[in-house]
Amino acid sequence: MALARYREPGALSRQLYERACRAMPGGNTRHSVALAPYPIYARSGSGCRITDVEGEERVDFLNNYTSLILGHAHPRVTEAVQRRAALGTAFTMPTPEEVELAELLTQRVAYVEHIRFCNSGSEAVMLAVKAARAFTGRPKIAKFEGAYHGLYDYAEVSEGPTPDVWGDANAPASITEPGTPASVAQDVVVLPWNRPEACRTLIERNKHELAGLLLDPMPLGIGMIAPRPGFLAFLREETARYGIVLIADEVLNFRLDYHGACHASGITPDLATFGKIIGGGFPVGGVGGSRRVMSVFDHTGALKVHHGGTFNANPVTIAAGLETMRQMTPEAFERLNGLGEYVRDGLRRLFRDARMPAQVCGAGSMFLAHLIGNDDGEELVDFRSLRGFSRTNPIYGDLCHKMLEYGFILSPRGIFGCLSTPMGEAELDGLVEALGRAFSELNSSQIPAYQA
Ligand SMILES: Cc1ncc(COP(=O)(O)O)c(C=O)c1O
Repeated sequence: MALARYREPGALSRQLYERACRAMPGGNTRHSVALAPYPIYARSGSGCRITDVEGEERVDFLNNYTSLILGHAHPRVTEAVQRRAALGTAFTMPTPEEVELAELLTQRVAYVEHIRFCNSGSEAVMLAVKAARAFTGRPKIAKFEGAYHGLYDYAEVSEGPTPDVWGDANAPASITEPGTPASVAQDVVVLPWNRPEACRTLIERNKHELAGLLLDPMPLGIGMIAPRPGFLAFLREETARYGIVLIADEVLNFRLDYHGACHASGITPDLATFGKIIGGGFPVGGVGGSRRVMSVFDHTGALKVHHGGTFNANPVTIAAGLETMRQMTPEAFERLNGLGEYVRDGLRRLFRDARMPAQVCGAGSMFLAHLIGNDDGEELVDFRSLRGFSRTNPIYGDLCHKMLEYGFILSPRGIFGCLSTPMGEAELDGLVEALGRAFSELNSSQIPAYQA
């Protein structure tokens, strides 16, 4: 029982959380690590496993929300970081490593002619949006309802609206987050995923004011519901028609393919944002794209967007990222994505055999399974179709706890996970088997059409 010690009154995680709550609001500094009744504190990680402060070991299917594609403490990455740290960690000067990582990424991603580094995916998105505005001289951006792109005010608009405020399905309302001026909503056009006709109308209506369209080809916030055939190409055409900068958010989905998510989807954006895996486990962001658009950052030309940042391209992050990218050869991607297919197949079989209506989404080395609340094969197509059952059901929290008990780390907000290279079929078979056990032990009234 891998949760027995965690549940004890004297559990170290409980004690740490009590201290955390005295020093930090809500006891954390990142909402994505919150877990009821208190988080499990990590002590160490190695390969695809994490050991918590109580000494329990579990297989990690979250990998710091997809950023650790080589798993924890990969010996080559650790060695590169130690070597670099001993030589100094930050200078008011560039270092050779940043040139190497910039070269590697511009060679690997065909549409990235120039790239710049920053410290997070959120910053990368902010810089890309500013670049699109500076390049076009227009104020607005378009983004998809439900899509998550980090913390920038404009990118946060309508990332999780509720039915009472979300408005017309063909012209979704622009909903700002608390703390953001309402005026921000006027500069964000919210698009419905997988509805080309509605998108066409909204883009056409705002064509003189739209600087950029922010697009994640497989958005986690929209349940990783795949774009319908032709949808991404259609968006590329519409943006090109009106001179709107197409910004691909590859922060999470760069792990889909050796050349990135856009390559895998067959589209060529003007700009893209990067993060997560390119930092090898350290804080990172990147914005890259065509020379023409990226020239807005060029201080030797007609500089339009100022780009500072005390720790941009810090050599420790870059050393870890470089080593990680070098390990991720085309063969390594092929193997990992093959395992992704294997686990998605395993999940489909599990749901079929248990007669549970479910839709298994995800691609490459990621999976996201939605339990659908009816039996009539209703297909999930967009953010709104998730609301009926998948996003709100408390079963996901209970399931997460059960899985922790069985030794697996999954998201508490859905059956979401990603793979790392130290994994093999044994870990994936274990995951699917444990999920089956978890379903049979949970209260069947919460689970649609479960047949034990
Ligand atoms: C698609 C996408 N864009 C942007 C971000 C923000 O990146 P960061 O958390 O590094 O700021 C994330 C983070 O999960 C993301 O998934």
